[in-house]
Amino acid sequence: MAEKPQVAETVAALRQHVKAWRGADESVALVPTMGALHEGHMGLVELARSKARRVVVSIFVNPTQFAPNEDFSRYPRTFEADLAKLAEVEADLVYAPSPAEMYPQGFSTGIVMTGPAQGLESDFRPHFFSGVAIVVSKLFLQCLPDYALFGEKDYQQLKVVTRMARDLDLQLEIVPGPTAREGDGLALSSRNRYLNPQERATAPVIHRSLLAAAEAIRAGTAPDAAMARARAAISEAGLKVDYVEARHAETLAPLNGAGGPIRLLAAAWLGTTRLIDNIGV
Ligand code: PAF
Repeated sequence: MAEKPQVAETVAALRQHVKAWRGADESVALVPTMGALHEGHMGLVELARSKARRVVVSIFVNPTQFAPNEDFSRYPRTFEADLAKLAEVEADLVYAPSPAEMYPQGFSTGIVMTGPAQGLESDFRPHFFSGVAIVVSKLFLQCLPDYALFGEKDYQQLKVVTRMARDLDLQLEIVPGPTAREGDGLALSSRNRYLNPQERATAPVIHRSLLAAAEAIRAGTAPDAAMARARAAISEAGLKVDYVEARHAETLAPLNGAGGPIRLLAAAWLGTTRLIDNIGV
């Protein structure tokens, strides 16, 4: 069995490792996660390995990106299994700070994101991107990586983090990783484990509906009409839709008849589980 990666629980310990690598002129990639790792995360670690000599995976269930009524307390925590998986892909270090290490007593700093953060997730989880922006910027400043890897599954998050890194002149490259899917198209997510067997069988309707919409748009259907059909198909399968929208793929601005690359994004509730997905056109 491969050896488990070392674990750093403090900023000081993380910095000690990174300093030693830098002394040896080694590049560093960071894969930020909240744990409950699946094949999608493993793909990001492998992509990170192809970019940098050293790979740090952070595991931190970030309280500031959850609203009080959300699933922070039941979010899966599978630390030992995560370490075993990370051993297989030869991650160099796991950074697993405590909430107190990340948010010391009296913590008073926030980041307000606009641009790609507007609408979509923000309409339903208004706290979400300020929580992501603060934790990700802290992870970047703690680790000072050359690369940071984010999955396209959380497409709006990827665009928000990319924008933030550019706006703050952070000296790193944000590297997107493709969405990993089950054989029936369901996007891998740590939250899929909340689904009961019947819900699990229904869940791929989101991906199927987005694929059909993308095909229709490519064939000349107006995006609004294609998205209305996708929304109806997802609702008819019994999900409660938060949004099913076509946006500009880079800025995430509403299309409003303007040209440019298109991304289709959806979020919907299946019972008590909120699923999100997206695809390019
Ligand atoms: O995508 C996630 O798992 C989280 O939002 C992230 C980027 C690790 C920040 O907590």
